Amino acid sequence: MNTYDLIFKKREGEKLEHEELKFLIDGFIEEKIPQYQMSAFLMAVYFKGMTPEELSDFTNIMVKSGEEIDLNDIGGITVDKHSTGGVGDGVSLSLAPLAASLGLVVPMMSGRGLGHTGGTLDKLESIPGYRIDITRNSFKDQLRKVGVAIIGQTKNIAPADKKMYSLRDVTATVDSIPLIAASIMSKKLAEGSSGLVLDVKTGSGAFMRKTEDAKKLAKAMLEIGRYNNRKMAAVISDMNQPLGRSIGNANEIKQAVEIMSGKGPDDITEITVVLAGMMLQLSGRQKDLKTAQKAALANLNNGAALKKFGDMIEAQGGDRKVCSNPDEVLKQPEYSAEVKSPENGYIEAMDTRKVGLTALSLGAGRERVIDKIDHSAGIEVFKKISDKVEAGETLAVLSSSTVKNMEEAKDMYINSLKITKDKVKSPELIYDIIN
Ligand code: URA
Repeated sequence: MNTYDLIFKKREGEKLEHEELKFLIDGFIEEKIPQYQMSAFLMAVYFKGMTPEELSDFTNIMVKSGEEIDLNDIGGITVDKHSTGGVGDGVSLSLAPLAASLGLVVPMMSGRGLGHTGGTLDKLESIPGYRIDITRNSFKDQLRKVGVAIIGQTKNIAPADKKMYSLRDVTATVDSIPLIAASIMSKKLAEGSSGLVLDVKTGSGAFMRKTEDAKKLAKAMLEIGRYNNRKMAAVISDMNQPLGRSIGNANEIKQAVEIMSGKGPDDITEITVVLAGMMLQLSGRQKDLKTAQKAALANLNNGAALKKFGDMIEAQGGDRKVCSNPDEVLKQPEYSAEVKSPENGYIEAMDTRKVGLTALSLGAGRERVIDKIDHSAGIEVFKKISDKVEAGETLAVLSSSTVKNMEEAKDMYINSLKITKDKVKSPELIYDIIN
């Protein structure tokens, strides 16, 4: 086999066979295939795409490049959730314990925040003592005893994806639907859960700005999962404004406690309940989605999900008092500033990516993987799309322990908003559910 011929074949839009894809990926990992040839191949995929079968093969070979976690000895039904990411998307924090409180086993391997989006691991690390790097055996033990664990992905999960992603990042091939689908699914398949619910975000704060692209991405991922005998479902949901009221790390933990006390903001509570219902349905424990959602909502209101959250935190070394007294346990910001409305009107639109970048500028996120974050930094959002605002009214409160002068961040936040004189409808939260 010859790398040139395989690049040529893909450039002409032909389907590559399993052995050909394996030759490319293995050769790239072993550094027999140079980066310039892999880049050319990735660009050919960007323009010509892949057939579903080809994409599934490609993903599988990426899975086999590293460790595959076997959860068959855990017992119970393992179901995970993956979100394509957004601003204020702290859903996993309450969803994972909620699903466990409903009898599922939730083995969640999460990521860190990068750029305008936050990461579940950073949020959990704002709880003093919480460890994301427990051993494989402790992870499995915890799943058996508590039913839920949220830990970090190890370097051994789909190393081919890591190597390829670095190349995509500098060759303008990140935003290719088949490449994103393979990248996400290679990690999720390696993590070993038998079911997976995908939350594919669309809008100004999402990877996929257009809903039709989000649907294509969801369908590609569903197909890969099903080729690999996983139970799959996806929701297409809105990211044209931040989810909930809190953006940051410690403040999203506090909000998660509110959600699990039945006092969370409506939108993030709704999507949490929808996703938990879908996980329950996927597991086969509940056939009807509405009944499953009702059970999920009940466990947010009756304290069952919050108890599981506390059990998980304790098992991973964290201070479970965060569930009863978050302000005492979580680091409080040293500085804060109110963002006031410059005029009367209604919030028409939010550039959600810019809102996320505002939080990053306060210390809540990182530009580079090695950057340190300020767990106390973030934004409390008081006004969202369709809300009426008056000149001088507080739109948001910015906070930080690292940035004292917040004038620039205040300007960034104001510039992310569009205010109009006319009444505006709020965007839908759920655009589609694909089973
Ligand atoms: N997230 C991933 O894990 N991979 C991509 O390619 C894009 C988003």
